[in-house]
Amino acid sequence: MCGIVGYVGPREVLPLILQGLKTLEYRGYDSAGIVILGEDLSLFKRQGKINALEKDLQGLHLDGRTGIGHTRWATHGAPTELNAHPHLDCDGNLAVIHNGIIENYLQLKAELLRLGHHFRSETDTEVIPHLIEEQLKSQSSLLGATLAASAQMEGAFALAVVSKRFPNQIVAVRRESPLVLGVGKGENFLASDIPALLPYTRDILILNNNEAALIEESGIQLFTLEGKALQRQPLSIDWDAKMAERGGYEHYMLKEIHEQPQALRETMVGHIDWDHSLVLLPEFPDDLLTGARRLYISACGTAYHAGIAGKYLIESLAGLPVEVEIASEFRYRRTPFVEGSLGLVISQSGETMDTLAALKRFKEQGIPTLAITNVQGSSVCREADHIFYTKAGPEIAVASTKAYLTQVLSLILLAVKLSQLKGQPQPELVCELKRIPLLAERVLAELEKTVQEYANRMRFLDDYFILGRGLDFASALEGALKLKEISYVHCEAYAAGELKHGPLALVTQGKQVCILATQRNLFAKTLSNLKEVKARGAEVLALSFPDGNELEADEIWSLPPTLDPLGPLLSMIPLQLFAYYMAKEKGCDIDQPRNLAKSVTVE
Ligand code: G6P
Repeated sequence: MCGIVGYVGPREVLPLILQGLKTLEYRGYDSAGIVILGEDLSLFKRQGKINALEKDLQGLHLDGRTGIGHTRWATHGAPTELNAHPHLDCDGNLAVIHNGIIENYLQLKAELLRLGHHFRSETDTEVIPHLIEEQLKSQSSLLGATLAASAQMEGAFALAVVSKRFPNQIVAVRRESPLVLGVGKGENFLASDIPALLPYTRDILILNNNEAALIEESGIQLFTLEGKALQRQPLSIDWDAKMAERGGYEHYMLKEIHEQPQALRETMVGHIDWDHSLVLLPEFPDDLLTGARRLYISACGTAYHAGIAGKYLIESLAGLPVEVEIASEFRYRRTPFVEGSLGLVISQSGETMDTLAALKRFKEQGIPTLAITNVQGSSVCREADHIFYTKAGPEIAVASTKAYLTQVLSLILLAVKLSQLKGQPQPELVCELKRIPLLAERVLAELEKTVQEYANRMRFLDDYFILGRGLDFASALEGALKLKEISYVHCEAYAAGELKHGPLALVTQGKQVCILATQRNLFAKTLSNLKEVKARGAEVLALSFPDGNELEADEIWSLPPTLDPLGPLLSMIPLQLFAYYMAKEKGCDIDQPRNLAKSVTVE
């Protein structure tokens, strides 16, 4: 979490850094700060969002060709102005911004205090400028001093360091927390994530784990943390800047919900032989898939819910046993893996700390690893043996929408591929996939207004149930997460058949309940569950295909009919819209919900 941006070059630095921070604001938004390095080192900080800082700085023009900026998601120390980054050394000549946690900061701080350094904040980060200051007493370069200081630090960090003594230089260091470098002509860039660089360049150098960079106008040099020079060519990123803009929508989340049909189309490109109705999955080698006896899926948040859908899909279509586990649990469990295990991680960002740890755990156990991710060059891509890219494009809203749908689609493709390898092609399903983007467009066109009106009627809602069986249960979990994170409405997702084992006690007169019924083989069972809640006085909204109209619900949102395994690709869209419009009714900060961040690079 936390966003880092840096620039060395001839453009006016302040607006460029502010713009970069706005793109990265989804990473954290407790406070923000900037340092511009000209003849002086000018520091600006502000509690709250980037807008507040921008207001403070309105009309200010500063000379200087180097700048760094930070948007914070607080870990150590309250989200105050004092704790906002950048942090300075004793004389205010050197500034550091940091993403991550310095685990041994208390020992380091005690030692630095003993040496006479003065601290101003409660953060772990502040030890870094003082450590570098100390190193500069014997080192002649900013890079050398920063590397020596980094060697003293334990934990995860991405750093950007500037100093008055070394004008027009930024030193960047990466251990675990992400950093990417943008290569320009006569100018160079640094950021936590690619979208912040897209307005300027698509030539991106990914800083790998345990690497450092010296960024100057004339070029970028890469080093190991031991100071050994490295050579690497930039990647050319196929996202363009427009994709990361709001494009006329009031919020990124709404834009991203509407981009889903296209994201589904793009994710299928090159993965289906339409003439023969076969899934092609060159990313995952056939022999690996054929030899698999069990698949372990690990992920966090929305991606974990995609994993649950994946379990239902793969077990039912391909008969391969699947275990799914939340990465923060999985990483510390001693799972007894069976012979022929395959590990799969799912991560939009490819940077989630717990998911990376799960990936490493698979590798330690000698298990071949697959990854489904949305971001080229992310940490997951470097660690996993085989990578499938979802083509959702940049997802900026903290609540994941289009990434989820493309993850579920990827798992459908994997399930069909596994089934094909067992000699059971699924031509009907593959054919139907072709229609799915169009059907998703229809859902948006036909249901958005209805959902908006429902949200308006529900504006005082503070507690909700979403029920479903089979794949609908996976969708219920994701729908409930959307409602919680965006509109702050407490919502429980329950396997419809399990409700009577406890939570039914909460269902009384007027309780609002949503039932998903897209799985025809479970339809009769779901209908009984609907009756159970109706009998207790609940008001029920049902999402189903038109042939599900016999559901005695108070309101029915009809989805265009499709095959059961593809149901979640359609039913999720109105649930996302419901969370969006509920949040709007309640005046919530939709793209940046309280306390959350998009990329969780701490435990
Ligand atoms: C955060 C985000 C969620 C996301 C989860 C996993 O909690 O707010 O939207 O699902 O991290 O992120 P990943 O990038 O690994 O999919």
